[in-house]
Amino acid sequence: MAKVTIDGQEMEFAEGTRLFDACAEARGEALPHFCYHPDLSVAGVCRLCQVEVEGMPKLTIACNTFVRDGMVVHTRNEKVRKAARQILEMHLVNHPVDCPICDQAGECGLQNQYMTYGLYESEVEQADKVNKAKAEVIGPHVILDKERCVLCSRCVRFCEEVTKTGEMGIFNRGDRAEIGVAPGTELANEYSLNTVDICPVGALTSRDFRFQKRVWMLKSTPGVCPGCATGCNVRIDHEAGRIFRLKPRRNDEVNGPWMCDRGRMVYKDVHDEDRLTTPLLRGEAVAWADVEEDLARLLAFGSVGLAVGSARATLEENFLLKRLAERLGAGEMSGGLRDADRGVGDDILQDADRAPNRRGLEILDLAEHDAVTLAGRIGNASGTILLLGGDPAAAPEVAAALQGKDVVFVGTHAGATAALAQVVLPGAAWAETAGVFVNRQGRLQDFPQAIARPDRARETWRILVERLAAAGEDTPPASLRTVRLLLTEAHGLPDLNSLPAVGSVPAAGGAD
Ligand code: SF4
Ligand code: SF4
Ligand code: FES
Repeated sequence: MAKVTIDGQEMEFAEGTRLFDACAEARGEALPHFCYHPDLSVAGVCRLCQVEVEGMPKLTIACNTFVRDGMVVHTRNEKVRKAARQILEMHLVNHPVDCPICDQAGECGLQNQYMTYGLYESEVEQADKVNKAKAEVIGPHVILDKERCVLCSRCVRFCEEVTKTGEMGIFNRGDRAEIGVAPGTELANEYSLNTVDICPVGALTSRDFRFQKRVWMLKSTPGVCPGCATGCNVRIDHEAGRIFRLKPRRNDEVNGPWMCDRGRMVYKDVHDEDRLTTPLLRGEAVAWADVEEDLARLLAFGSVGLAVGSARATLEENFLLKRLAERLGAGEMSGGLRDADRGVGDDILQDADRAPNRRGLEILDLAEHDAVTLAGRIGNASGTILLLGGDPAAAPEVAAALQGKDVVFVGTHAGATAALAQVVLPGAAWAETAGVFVNRQGRLQDFPQAIARPDRARETWRILVERLAAAGEDTPPASLRTVRLLLTEAHGLPDLNSLPAVGSVPAAGGAD
């Protein structure tokens, strides 16, 4: 361990700790910086993180210095503040200062550090600034404003070190130096929007989010991406019931600080025009009360031939479906359609399995079936087919088997399954409910509700509890908390009501 005194405070740090990180711990906030990023190599180019180390002739950059026993460091004295101010001024010499029309305003490193360390009157006239290209589309998701770039090289290092695609580079020299993509290429890797996250200014912005909302109007709720089995931890930024963007939420056990571009776009499904927002009775939109009579017949004791869960539904929803099926004396159960959601994975984050909760089905001992087998089971079942989530009838074999059957579908989107069902019950989408997904590592990942449900849609767990009550269960669980207690007890899981608010834990027996 190294004893280091930072701003008069003596602390111990492990050998090999970067002085930048030691200072952040001692100060309770990071040093000013543009180029340092804990998940990328150190570039040491912005010079903003300079501190005074006693015994050293000049100020030193903390990001490229390691702690040493006996070090005495000053981060807030006038010498350090003056250096930060001068360097900021240098970064701002050619900056357009177009904050009022910049998407980054409100979460911009340059703005924040100017307010903390700058606060000088610029002596550079706007007309004297070097003009560079603005609003240049450099890929399917990203727009570049070269004038706003502070040449921190984070985006370059991301493309070299994380995606290893190398699209970004710094070209030319001196005040003509500028960021860009190599000629003839575009920033088209599947993780390109992470460069927008790590760009400390508004030089790289998201084409999807551009001019949609000022960031200070957004509320944030932690969530789990439903885009594949990895289950990246995300932050859902929303306002007035609409999601505007997803950002990665650091979880070193799952996704580190990143997420893929496809996952960023899954929020669009929540607001899709195909959302089921009201119950349907033989295709007609009706009130909840209007489906009771048919449900009483279709879901009477002994009348359900097969109940089918889904790797897209939460752990709680599949658990309640199983409980309801048992209560109704259902002939059989299936976990749903295996391989309905296959895509292409990679060795960064994306999993070829596009469903978020397949491991959850395993915990509940719900076996999935391929389309032919599931269709066969549907064909052989006598009685109602009760389907939860997804769109299993998108598989032609399943659609053919469902023809002429009594079908009840609890789901979120219109599609082949909803079209074949006598009764459709509109459930909440992933961002409109709380729940647990079990990712590919077997980690139980808890997420809260972020936004309100549309129109007459109800939480799916509540729809299933209502059916349990209608089926005569004496004390059906009155809250999601109670559902989780029952689930925890039934399957020997860690207490689902005490999962960490941010992060996730391995399920018993889950490989991690
Ligand atoms: S575009 Fe952003 S991340 Fe890339 S070098 Fe410029 S300021 Fe840094
Ligand atoms: S890797 Fe999977 S879980 Fe992660 S953001 Fe992409 S789609 Fe979502
Ligand atoms: S953050 Fe240390 S030199 Fe840029």
